[in-house]
Amino acid sequence: MTGIRLTAPDPGWAIDADVVVVGSGVAGLTAALRCSAAGARTVVVTKARLDDGSTRWAQGGIAAALGEGDTPEQHLDDTLVAGAGLCDEDAVRLLVTEGPAAVRRLIATGAAFDTGADGEILLTREGGHHRRRIAHAGGDATGAEISRALVKAVHETGIETIEDALVLDLLTDDAGRAAGVTLHVMGQGQRDGVGAVHARAVVLATGGMGQVFSSTTNPAVSTGDGVALALRAGAEVSDLEFVQFHPTVLWLGPDAEGQQPLVSEAVRGEGAHLVDADGVRFMAGQHEMAELAPRDIVAKGIMRRMRETGAEHMYLDARHFGRRMWEERFPTILAACRAHGIDPVTEPVPVAPAAHYASGGVRTDLHGRTTVEGLYACGEVACTGVHGANRLASNSLLEGLVFAERIADDVTARLAGGGLPARPATGPDGPARPATGPAPRTCPLPAPDTRHEIQRTMTAGAGVLRSARSLERAAAGLDALHERAAREPEGGARAAEPCVETWEAANLLLVARALVAAARRREETRGCHWREDRPDRDDAAWRRHLLLRLDGDGTLVVGSTGTHALPPATHRTTPGSAGTPQ
Ligand code: SIN
Repeated sequence: MTGIRLTAPDPGWAIDADVVVVGSGVAGLTAALRCSAAGARTVVVTKARLDDGSTRWAQGGIAAALGEGDTPEQHLDDTLVAGAGLCDEDAVRLLVTEGPAAVRRLIATGAAFDTGADGEILLTREGGHHRRRIAHAGGDATGAEISRALVKAVHETGIETIEDALVLDLLTDDAGRAAGVTLHVMGQGQRDGVGAVHARAVVLATGGMGQVFSSTTNPAVSTGDGVALALRAGAEVSDLEFVQFHPTVLWLGPDAEGQQPLVSEAVRGEGAHLVDADGVRFMAGQHEMAELAPRDIVAKGIMRRMRETGAEHMYLDARHFGRRMWEERFPTILAACRAHGIDPVTEPVPVAPAAHYASGGVRTDLHGRTTVEGLYACGEVACTGVHGANRLASNSLLEGLVFAERIADDVTARLAGGGLPARPATGPDGPARPATGPAPRTCPLPAPDTRHEIQRTMTAGAGVLRSARSLERAAAGLDALHERAAREPEGGARAAEPCVETWEAANLLLVARALVAAARRREETRGCHWREDRPDRDDAAWRRHLLLRLDGDGTLVVGSTGTHALPPATHRTTPGSAGTPQ
């Protein structure tokens, strides 16, 4: 019995475009604006409102070598160190050299960064950065300002947008090339229900997957939809084991679930101290950069101290900032703390690590091309190679910006040069459906509340601290959920029309299984992958990337590639190396 399977039902409506951009954070909207400016008919589809993704929640800022005396070379060095031997140096070089101009273009689009009396952009520090390099807006509301400016620009440009549209699967033509996406749309009048956007290129910018864990800084929409779609479409994903746990998330009790308030690294960048319950600064002896060590090191330092002292959290002490600095520099964090009855002006803030960022994702080349022709990915959903085993703080907004621009340039050049399939003819009944290629791989459709079981399983077995045993338990738990969904005649969904929560549960289950498969395979500790049973970094065996794909029969296959020896930045349709089923 196969149960209900996750492939989109036939669309009830369709529109067409040159490019469909899926997602509306910094990466998606940057790609859309640039494609549209180059004359491509562009449609943006997004799961909730245009500004509901992770970008809006970014606090600290955007890293770029903008300050006097700073250089892209120094930014590159810091990024490579944080990435713990797994960054793709060519990708990082593009990021840091193209970054400053991309930030200036963002400013020209309307994003207002904080400036000093001389009009120069103010820069702060965060973990792993040896210089002040982080531009910020509204003190600690950088993402909200970027989102505001980009959404405004999209509206002014007249780019078509479809909100409340959860992407389901990739459509392909008879040559296996991306030809659009299917969507589940809620409450958009004529476009209600399952529909399709047919397009000559598809840009995934769907954000992260933090919701696979119980406690995360990510908003509720971050359910790994893009990675799941890419897997079902046969694309390769890479580095999924490297989930970054942000060291300082406001601790709201042992049972706190869902999105938790972030306390930006910029607070430490401006001089806050991490202390235990006795007021001891425990990071000072652990790394020369103390509280400003790369994020994985600080998260581990906090976890170690919690274990040593039996505490459930540590504290971030910034009372010495004084009221005025808190109000002017960190108004968002101050308000969030006070909303929970904590006043950082007069007391240390309880903090603990929580899931924050997926350093891995859909594997791309330097133009954002995935291993499926015509399918691109940028932002958190992508694995461009810039983050390696641990993303450097505030490199994510920059990556979204730089690689979205690169994608737009590649897509529009290929559209103009005939490098992407022609748009299907539009008849009186709307666009003709492109010749249909291979159906996406199918996945069982679990009951919507499976989400919580997935989160609990992942938090217990594949969280900040992992071991072979904990991962084995997590894999067994997830397999049981997968089998239950496949066994039940109703697919667990118990509804003729699956709801958004059902699709999300299916996506979470698939990405969780892929993440655990990679984490089990990597038998070492590196960056944000911390294996208690393999405490050392092992370059001889593991300085390589783990690649995953979904086989035609729905089996997850794990392979690997050498570090610095990634296949050339060209389109490939087959995985990088022979893999083994999980
Ligand atoms: C922060 O403000 O601490 C988050 C920055 C980031 O995740 O890069």
